[in-house]
Amino acid sequence: MQVNILTADSEIRKAIDCIKLGAYDFITKPYNFEELLLTIKRALEHRDLLFQNEALAKQAKQHRANRIIGNSQVLNQLIQFAEKAAKSESNILIEGETGTGKELLAEFIHQHSPRRTKPFVVINCASLPDQLIESELFGYEKGAFTDAKTSKPGLVEIANGGTLFLDEIGETSLNIQPKLLRFLENGEYRRVGGVNSLSSDVRVIGATNKNLLEETEQKLFRRDLLFRLNVITLVVPPLRERKEDILTLANFFLESKSPIRAPRKFDERAIEALMQYDFPGNVRELEHIIERAIIFSDDNIIRPEVLFLSTKKKKLVEPVPNTIPINNHSSEELSIDELERNHILKILDLNGWERTKTAEHLGISQKTLYSKIKKYHLEKGT
Ligand SMILES: Nc1ncnc2c1ncn2[C@@H]1O[C@H](COP(=O)(O)OP(=O)(O)OP(=O)(O)O)[C@@H](O)[C@H]1O
Ligand SMILES: [Mg+2]
Repeated sequence: MQVNILTADSEIRKAIDCIKLGAYDFITKPYNFEELLLTIKRALEHRDLLFQNEALAKQAKQHRANRIIGNSQVLNQLIQFAEKAAKSESNILIEGETGTGKELLAEFIHQHSPRRTKPFVVINCASLPDQLIESELFGYEKGAFTDAKTSKPGLVEIANGGTLFLDEIGETSLNIQPKLLRFLENGEYRRVGGVNSLSSDVRVIGATNKNLLEETEQKLFRRDLLFRLNVITLVVPPLRERKEDILTLANFFLESKSPIRAPRKFDERAIEALMQYDFPGNVRELEHIIERAIIFSDDNIIRPEVLFLSTKKKKLVEPVPNTIPINNHSSEELSIDELERNHILKILDLNGWERTKTAEHLGISQKTLYSKIKKYHLEKGT
């Protein structure tokens, strides 16, 4: 909303204050009607520009987010395969450990396919119970269940002409798999509670961090579904198997996550530490490590002390000391979780447990702060 101040008070100091606080303009009485209209018009134009700006920034960010960073031979080869696969209509299975970039690759494939102007729709099969997966995917008819007051189209319908990304497809149950199979075979499906067979033209990309072949042997995943899906299989290698990408990615995150334009760089020992680390959480873990390093570093040099890489995966032990000197070497022995817990506690104490202030201080949302307080069971006086 744009605000114009209309007042009989013509004190210039007040006008300046109003503008500083975000008013668009300050008009004093007696006013001229046309002048007033003009100001309103300009304020509306200003608002439109702000909206546009925001949309463009979002788009640019999206574009950047969609870039696969890295220059290792394995990654380059994977990208080449993905580009070829994108041109085809075949379903694709993407395998890889957590955080390796499976979703990023799926989006890349969509963007390089003839379907790029149509929707890319994601459903995470691990986060939804069976019944919900079915009604999300295929939609439902009015009255299909108690809450179904109206009918609702499914994601396959929304994705028509585009790509459907079935994340964590290995987590689907044997109830839903036959319905998926049918859809993969001929694009046909039925809404929950519906009688008509509908169809949709969708290219399916599935992702999993499981070994689905093994799952089929244990009768946890249908073999016929696997073979429908893995016409093309792309394997995203873990970060420790493409160490050449570590620095490229680290520098990319360093640049994109730094809040101010101050150029930051890693010192030699930090680079060495990163190269030796084996990243069980892969690229996502690296991303978080860098984000944290930026927060903890006091100047523009990133030193190993702020990377907090633990060689041994340590469990959160109950009484962790309340404060830890950040530049002290003992911090190297703590896990990231322990450090985070301690840091949050410290800042909470510092701000007298005022959560709004604390969240602001930490640069996180209040929601995130609440979930961290819960996660680490933080209480006043711990
Ligand atoms: N090569 C890369 N270049 C830039 N960013 C990357 C790359 N690989 C992964 N990322 C980033 O790492 C994070 C994790 O990636 P993504 O969600 O695609 O992984 P995933 O394999 O789907 O993980 P999960 O199995 O946990 O769902 C995202 O923020 C993504 O943008
Ligand atoms: Mg994923």
